[in-house]
Amino acid sequence: MSDTSKIEIRSLRKSFGDNEVLKNINLEVPKGGVVALIGPSGSGKSTLLRCINLLVVPDGGSVRVGDTSFSFGDGARLPDVRTLATFRATTGMVFQHFNLFPHMTTLQNVMEGPVTVRRMAKADAEKLARAQLAKVGLAEKADQYPATLSGGQKQRVAIARALAMEPDVMLFDEATSALDPELVGEVLAVIQQLASEGMTMVIVTHEIAFAREVADRLIFMRDGVVVEEGPSRQVIDHPQEAATRAFLSHFHRAGALPPANATS
Ligand SMILES: Nc1ncnc2c1ncn2[C@@H]1O[C@H](COP(=O)(O)OP(=O)(O)OP(=O)(O)O)[C@@H](O)[C@H]1O
Ligand SMILES: [Mg+2]
Repeated sequence: MSDTSKIEIRSLRKSFGDNEVLKNINLEVPKGGVVALIGPSGSGKSTLLRCINLLVVPDGGSVRVGDTSFSFGDGARLPDVRTLATFRATTGMVFQHFNLFPHMTTLQNVMEGPVTVRRMAKADAEKLARAQLAKVGLAEKADQYPATLSGGQKQRVAIARALAMEPDVMLFDEATSALDPELVGEVLAVIQQLASEGMTMVIVTHEIAFAREVADRLIFMRDGVVVEEGPSRQVIDHPQEAATRAFLSHFHRAGALPPANATS
């Protein structure tokens, strides 16, 4: 086990009924590292991400985030509810759909976790929440309700809400896929800023050019296995496996990538 890795996944397995969705997955993310996870629909990306914060309980293998680790499989005791809750609080997750509370203002949405889960005093939680809203560029929207925000703004509130838990790592599951194209950039900019500040992140994305730019490493998954992984630019510009090439060719055709010989 490496001293510097923030996330370490070993021999992870997960099935839903007969459907073996994750087959012996290994993944290590160093502190401050950014890993992009790409692959076709149904390849197991979301399930892997959900296993990292134990929203999905693996059938076998181990998961470690920071100093906390869990083993699964024969004879392993499942973590109790309280342990799970504490653990999840250290892994911020952002989904495709923002799931903000509609009856709460932006500020109240971001304060909710610190107050109810972290038992923070309201005044402190408010200060923290305002700081996180400022960070995602929404300080002036604190008193508005989610219904009055654009999709990009809602997603930035969702990111602020996750950050207000002061997580060790951030997990993004297609955080921009539900957005209108013109709103994607503002959310990617926030993710990019987090990367530059040294946040450890795993990002499931279809934004290949963004993954190439922001992620240190890229993992291409198919049918529950890691087919190829390496430095993101290397994998995207010079994929070694036929399956990776086939997957990436869709994006080349769509013009979403710089030419393969681009150097920066
Ligand atoms: N809760 C569940 N119950 C049963 N099957 C599930 C569950 N969650 C996922 N699956 C199945 O696991 C497989 C992998 O799903 P997963 O959502 O991880 O794929 P994905 O790579 O994230 O796909 P997409 O790009 O479409 O989001 C699929 O066959 C899916 O139907
Ligand atoms: Mg998914």
